[in-house]
Amino acid sequence: MLNVFVFVLYRKLIGARYYLRSYEANYGPLKTRLDFRSPRDIDGHGTHTSSTIGGRRVPNASSIGGLGSGTATGGAPLARLAIYKVCWPIPGQTLAEGNTCLDDDMLAAFDDAIADGVHVISVSIGTDTSRPYKNDGIAIGALHAMKRNIVVACSAGNSGPTTYSVSNVAPWIITVGASSIDRIFSSPIVLGNDMIIEGQSITPFGNRTYPLVYAADVENPGTTTNLTRGLCLRGTLSPALVRGKAVFCWRGGTFQTLEVQSAGGVATVLGNAYEGRGVGGRPYLIPATVVYFNKIDIFNYIETNRNPNVTLIQPKTLIGTKPDPFMAPFTSRGPSAIEPNILKPDITAPGLNILAAWSEASSPLKVPADKRVVKYNIDSGTSMACPHVAAVAALLKAIHPDWSSAAIRSAIMTTAKITNNVGTQITNSQGNIATPFDYGAGHIQPSKAADPGLVYNASYNDYLLFLCSSSGNLLDPSFKCPQQLPSPSDLNYPSLSIARLQGSRTVKRTVTNVGTKSSSYSVRINPPQGYLVQISPTTLDFSAVGEIKSFSITITAQSTAKKSVFEVGWYTWSDGIHQVRSPITVASP
Ligand SMILES: *[C@@H]1O[C@H](CO)[C@@H](O)[C@H](O)[C@H]1NC(C)=O
Ligand SMILES: *[C@@H]1O[C@H](CO)[C@@H](O)[C@H](O)[C@H]1NC(C)=O
Ligand SMILES: *[C@@H]1O[C@H](CO)[C@@H](O)[C@H](O)[C@H]1NC(C)=O
Ligand SMILES: *[C@@H]1O[C@H](CO)[C@@H](O)[C@H](O)[C@H]1NC(C)=O
Ligand SMILES: *[C@@H]1O[C@H](CO)[C@@H](O)[C@H](O)[C@H]1NC(C)=O
Repeated sequence: MLNVFVFVLYRKLIGARYYLRSYEANYGPLKTRLDFRSPRDIDGHGTHTSSTIGGRRVPNASSIGGLGSGTATGGAPLARLAIYKVCWPIPGQTLAEGNTCLDDDMLAAFDDAIADGVHVISVSIGTDTSRPYKNDGIAIGALHAMKRNIVVACSAGNSGPTTYSVSNVAPWIITVGASSIDRIFSSPIVLGNDMIIEGQSITPFGNRTYPLVYAADVENPGTTTNLTRGLCLRGTLSPALVRGKAVFCWRGGTFQTLEVQSAGGVATVLGNAYEGRGVGGRPYLIPATVVYFNKIDIFNYIETNRNPNVTLIQPKTLIGTKPDPFMAPFTSRGPSAIEPNILKPDITAPGLNILAAWSEASSPLKVPADKRVVKYNIDSGTSMACPHVAAVAALLKAIHPDWSSAAIRSAIMTTAKITNNVGTQITNSQGNIATPFDYGAGHIQPSKAADPGLVYNASYNDYLLFLCSSSGNLLDPSFKCPQQLPSPSDLNYPSLSIARLQGSRTVKRTVTNVGTKSSSYSVRINPPQGYLVQISPTTLDFSAVGEIKSFSITITAQSTAKKSVFEVGWYTWSDGIHQVRSPITVASP
């Protein structure tokens, strides 16, 4: 419930609207047992994302059981928030399974937000990766917003680690991937043979030893196939064999723990051979730990012991963990399926096990069996990463009110880091080196973004010209495409991607000096393997703030260039103080 005193004094939430017309046209009248016919959040997701942007400082906030306790704060704690609710439950599904956000409703919300005079729009909503811009409500709404110089940040999607899975790829959007923060919730298990297996959990429980079974050994006959054995899918576990036991499931989350519980199991060990430390936890209803080391050890132990057992060790919050950041396994990856000549995602930000406010009209697991009411909850996704970037954009707008949304995006991208807290390159959760297709320009560094030195600016017309060359300008009929079309790679973007380079290509870029009045920048190049990169001129001298200089980048495929493989490189302008770094991705057909 809204506290009127707080509202009047602090004006945190200054607006809230909801959009149902398209939803009701598609699904029929909203069932009021599924959601409120109002902006009120029955899910928790909107409360989580908006408090990540603008929540005030709250001491001693924590997840259930005190996990992750400390002072919680939004990225821009003095920002005011206007909420536009566009996502609604899908009849017949729990909110844990998902919801739906329809294009017309989203477009109406964009229009209202623009008319309301917002400065930044944060959209933690995924979209179909192959949908052209002209059919994509978020892309269209974001273009209208960009025209009024509103920054739009969107989540990259949670369909990784598959390539070509990134969504919200329009170049006028800041597309945000998800990476870790230096905090884990350590919860190892100890097998009866004393083998310790690392794991994480945000379900509060005490140390206890349980008899252990492997799900595939305790299934109802005929309920699984060789592809679903051991997955703890609904209705597969035999109560007679599971009662009172801890069940090891291959993988899983909320629904697997609920299946174990409904079959009478008392604890769950969720295997996670692929994702390493990058697993997103939830506060389950029974003790449950996600283990991320070799599952073979668990099988061997279970199969070779008459009465196997496991001890679950209560979760403990550890901060300052290394290496950090690393990429979340689920974060959607580039290249862009519809326009590979623009590198996407643009940036990565914290999105793994993020603590933020939660709606008291929801529950942590968002299923009917969960009756718990919490003020804070831990959630994971690019939905959690996007509001971090939106908050930084809001801060940058406050510091530099005259910057365009392209300048703000440029500042965020060119100052990002690609190394972790052990001084090596950022990796994926399995430890292999990540690339711009995972993180764009890198992991966000807000303080550095305030003073980027140079920015790659772009105007509304530049984006329309890009559209002409990419898929055709079908979004603004008042703009006529020229006869001679540039390449989509020519958009003055802070990264450079060329998807089908034959021989050699030259693109132009311009940078605006937003740093010191008199400065001299020189360029450093790390070329993609098999390519020659030449930048001309190699030094840029500025004598005024706001001065604009151009340079050209020529990329030439050499005989050693691999075919049909994107190679990655970088170029960096530096005046000795600022490092203005841009990723390059290039492929030969
Ligand atoms: C912080 O919260 C915990 C658990 O909710 C409580 O036990 C503790 O007293 C609180 N500490 C302060 C300083 O408020
Ligand atoms: C667990 O199993 C081991 C053998 O695997 C056995 O030595 C130990 O006593 C068991 N512990 C409990 C608490 O049952
Ligand atoms: C649980 O086990 C861990 C690891 O052995 C130990 O550090 C911790 O103190 C134990 N907790 C309690 C409450 O006994
Ligand atoms: C699973 O079973 C199907 C047919 O029942 C078979 O074609 C397939 O090869 C099996 N897959 C594995 C991984 O054993
Ligand atoms: C960028 O371009 C816009 C016009 O599109 C202009 O208003 C702005 O001053 C330029 N420079 C910066 C740093 O935003």
